[in-house]
Amino acid sequence: MRILGIETSCDETAAAVVEDGHNLLSNVVASSMALHAVYGGIVPEIAARSHIEAIIPVIDQALIDAKCSWSQLDGIAVTYGAGLGGSLLIGVLTARTIAIARQLPLYAINHVEGHVYANFITNTSLSGYQLPAKQPLFPLLALIVSGGHTQLALFNDHFNHRLLGRTHDDAIGEAFDKVAKILGLPYPGGPSIGIKAKDGDPFCFRLPKARLTSKYDFSFSGLKTAVLRLAQEQIGESFGFPSIKLPERLNEAQKANIAASFERVAIETVVDKTILAYEEFKPAAVVIAGGVAASPELRQQLANRLPIPIAYTDPKLCTDNGAMIATLGCYKVQRQQATADPYSLVIDPDLTM
Ligand code: KG4
Ligand code: ZN
Repeated sequence: MRILGIETSCDETAAAVVEDGHNLLSNVVASSMALHAVYGGIVPEIAARSHIEAIIPVIDQALIDAKCSWSQLDGIAVTYGAGLGGSLLIGVLTARTIAIARQLPLYAINHVEGHVYANFITNTSLSGYQLPAKQPLFPLLALIVSGGHTQLALFNDHFNHRLLGRTHDDAIGEAFDKVAKILGLPYPGGPSIGIKAKDGDPFCFRLPKARLTSKYDFSFSGLKTAVLRLAQEQIGESFGFPSIKLPERLNEAQKANIAASFERVAIETVVDKTILAYEEFKPAAVVIAGGVAASPELRQQLANRLPIPIAYTDPKLCTDNGAMIATLGCYKVQRQQATADPYSLVIDPDLTM
């Protein structure tokens, strides 16, 4: 069974073909990241326009790389939420049109749930991928950490999951991106803070971990503000000093120490709750998903603290991609989940899990 996955929820225009829910036949990603980098964050209008330009060539390339013709496909899976409205529209309208023209079943995919399914890909003949040897077992605890989401979910089986907790404000990836901006480090903040942190002392500064009444919920806005106050304090200016002027006044050692201290605390926050959930629910496996799952610091801290082994997928499958969407699509077919109507499927930018 072969499914074409289409993903356009943010700035990546992505398409991939996955076979039988585990074999990656192609994975094509065109990113408009460079266009956004100058603004220090995603500009929705630029993202949507870039999707229009890239979507057809990206899908064509995914079929070419997979050596797959339209008639060899069993369906199309497309992200319909959550995400940026303009961006989602391009993917959904393209998928709807193809489904009608090629008479293929259409599956509507939740982006956040899709991220988890990157961990089910275990085989590929494509070069440059490091994949887990086996698929994760149920019950499965998933830590989903991206630019738009921070949540813990317990999957008892495919299509049977419960949300344990989520962020009340910023997502962890968003906090990385905002702190990078304060320190004058390039967008996206996750990788650039990771690199800068290598030169710093992770215990140099004490930064707060949010305490919330519900045990598996998160909050990162206080940590982000604490970093801003710390940077202002370091250069001897009051809290009124504008954040955009901070990077030129901070020296490289200060930036490295702030980056390292922030990274340690932000990652510890999600690891603490993952361990807590592991102890309560004793899942058979733990997976991490979403862009921040590419973080070597997260991978290290979890491996050190979890009492069971954890397998990580390739960082290219952690950030947004079509492969995770196609993989979840395969399970929708296999478990006879409802198809979407190609004449009426609408986007849902605020979709939750
Ligand atoms: O999943 P994703 O590609 O898009 C969303 O669905 O949001 O995640 C993007 C986020 C960004 O905030 C970026 O800073 C973060 O993932 N990220 C990382 C790394 N690569 C991307 N964070 C930490 N370490 C990385 N290597
Ligand atoms: Zn994502």
